[in-house]
Amino acid sequence: MEKTLAIIKPDAVKKGLIGKIIQRIEEEGFKISGLKMLHLTKEDAKAFYIVHKDKSFYDSLTDFMSSGEIVVMILERENAISHWRKVMGATDPALAEPGTIRHEFGSSVERNAVHGSDSPSTAEWEISFFYKDMQLEKIK
Ligand code: RTP
Ligand code: MG
Repeated sequence: MEKTLAIIKPDAVKKGLIGKIIQRIEEEGFKISGLKMLHLTKEDAKAFYIVHKDKSFYDSLTDFMSSGEIVVMILERENAISHWRKVMGATDPALAEPGTIRHEFGSSVERNAVHGSDSPSTAEWEISFFYKDMQLEKIK
């Protein structure tokens, strides 16, 4: 089974959408094999989104991602990476298809409710970013 890293972002946590998003994840046939709530520091958020360090939105994005609690999950399924990105929808909620999480719950290109890894190597890096110091098989 393929694994991907999913995050419920601070906007969705603040709106009380954790339950609805997790329900959708389970209905889509994902096994949730890791789950925790965290409040990232600005430095944590900068490290996680280092791939975007040269983008104009990096400072704003990392302010947003460190602005409140997030829920971090490891999701397992066949084609987990592409399937989760399909369920999330386009980055900009205004362009996301009806029925996607970002269409339903996102409010701007930045405050778009959820994150998902975009490739196998990114998924591996992102999972180890959040779980590297834990014995994943024992502590979830
Ligand atoms: P994510 O990494 O969070 O799953 O989102 P994504 O792949 O769909 O989009 P990506 O290009 O990786 O951008 C990461 C996050 O940065 C914020 N963003 N803001 N202001 C802007 O133009 C802009 N563009 C992207 C979003 O929160 C996006 O999810
Ligand atoms: Mg991305």
